[in-house]
Amino acid sequence: TRSCAILLSGGGSNMVQLVKSMAEAGHPARPVLVMSNDPGAGGLARAQAMGVATDAVDHRPFGKDRAAFEAELTARLEAAGADLICLAGFMRVLTEGFVRHWEGRMLNIHPSLLPKYRGLHTHARALDAGDAEAGCTVHEVTPALDDGPILGQARVPILSGDTPESLAARVLVREHELYPACLRRFAAGERHPIYLN
Ligand code: GAR
Repeated sequence: TRSCAILLSGGGSNMVQLVKSMAEAGHPARPVLVMSNDPGAGGLARAQAMGVATDAVDHRPFGKDRAAFEAELTARLEAAGADLICLAGFMRVLTEGFVRHWEGRMLNIHPSLLPKYRGLHTHARALDAGDAEAGCTVHEVTPALDDGPILGQARVPILSGDTPESLAARVLVREHELYPACLRRFAAGERHPIYLN
């Protein structure tokens, strides 16, 4: 059984779905820690309510010293026994050192159809481009931002009258399907991507 930690910065709706999925019979991973860079993140309370251990390392006292912040993250992740990390709305860019340490053991979900729209404001950018569809991607984390082998994608239509908010809500529903499916496959050793339509 893999020991999975989930890193988040916000409300943690993806984290909730990942934790619920790991309770399924025969799941190859279990949740050992939910960790945030924001001690006030709503996701921490939601994890506690589900009986999952939580921790926070506030990034602010570290200032520009990302390496020191990340060393603290890694120390606490390893103390919890984590051997698999799911980034789930974790809004800090990670340095190459941290990524290399966890390479092959760290997944991310990104709210676009990568390789389109790496970075922020993905939904507004898809709307501005006049795209007919949008979606989300789960991928292995490598040092380049929102890059790395794709493990799965789900697509949604863009509808006339969509705003970044309405599109984000439609994509989020699919994130909640896609991420648990990709985690389960990855933890079982499967590396071929899945494409949900
Ligand atoms: C999700 O839409 C996720 O794809 C996105 O943040 C949201 C977190 O929601 N991640 C990124 O933008 C990463 N750069 P949640 O806290 O409810 O899971």
